[in-house]
Amino acid sequence: MPEKAHYGLLKGKKGIVFGPLDESSIGWQIALHAYREGAQVALSNVATAIRFGKLQELSELCGNAPILICDASKNEEVDNTFRELKETMGSVDFIVHSIGMSQNIRKQVPYEELNYEWFMRTLDVSGISFHRLVAYALKNEALNDGASIVALSYIASQRNYWTYSDMGDAKSLLESIARSFGPRLAPRGIRINTISQSPTYTKAGSGIPGFEKMYDYSELMSPLGNASAEECAEYTMTILSDLTRKVTMQNLFHDGGYSSMGATIPMIKLAHEALHDKELAERVGLEGRHSSR
Ligand SMILES: NC(=O)c1ccc[n+]([C@@H]2O[C@H](COP(=O)([O-])OP(=O)(O)OC[C@H]3O[C@@H](n4cnc5c(N)ncnc54)[C@H](O)[C@@H]3O)[C@@H](O)[C@H]2O)c1
Repeated sequence: MPEKAHYGLLKGKKGIVFGPLDESSIGWQIALHAYREGAQVALSNVATAIRFGKLQELSELCGNAPILICDASKNEEVDNTFRELKETMGSVDFIVHSIGMSQNIRKQVPYEELNYEWFMRTLDVSGISFHRLVAYALKNEALNDGASIVALSYIASQRNYWTYSDMGDAKSLLESIARSFGPRLAPRGIRINTISQSPTYTKAGSGIPGFEKMYDYSELMSPLGNASAEECAEYTMTILSDLTRKVTMQNLFHDGGYSSMGATIPMIKLAHEALHDKELAERVGLEGRHSSR
């Protein structure tokens, strides 16, 4: 494969990426691409992820990037992380939130019967933690003017995706937090956005029931096909760079066109064929919808 092009988009910048676990992680690809675009990066995750993931390997690939242990649902840990970050690297030009977790999804609890303690935890870890990162970065004066803040989202924040369960609620909250912070950060030229990414095979992604089916459906519904973690990282570089200084409070779709499609010809044909095939219609739960027309 030819050596990938780099553009020096983040030359002279410093930042921290929360949530890289292994090479499949979107956060992993973002950290690596940021380093290759010239940034000095720090990495962060919870202690267990650091123990069982491959953060050390990523650190080496990113010029011995510091690794900071932080549970993003704990005020004190987030506070300490930004204090430590400032001591080791000084204040930063970007923050990436690439964190998500739902115990209700993991245990396949139906939405109608959500365990509320886990629901609160989903909202806290996957949504409110975004607020916490920004709040403690500000408190510790760890953000430079003109900084860019990004979190990863999914279209289930706006549309119903049955098996995405309480994570859909967490993503709505996440996107709302970006909008609420936007004007408050703007006087310092700081931008805050969410990137709504295609289904991607990662530890968190593939833990969602029926993920492979969703992935295939999304692939068929996206004119450009699903976007990979690597492609997401490439897009994120533009949002972290000075090329997008006036982009803020946006939920930016990075999904091969999926979010703007009503239907694609292959999907229409598939549905039509299925409805005309009695056996197939029954197999996919369309009993009684089989059509003889
Ligand atoms: N994979 C997809 O299909 C997809 C699509 C759109 C958006 N996203 C979003 O991308 C982001 C990254 O997820 P991913 O798919 O790369 O999966 P991933 O499993 O590689 O990353 C999720 C990370 O969250 C971390 N995390 C969990 N609880 C935490 C806590 N309390 N404090 C700090 N970190 C914690 C995990 O350790 C893990 O590293 C998530 O916000 C996810 O919702 C993923």
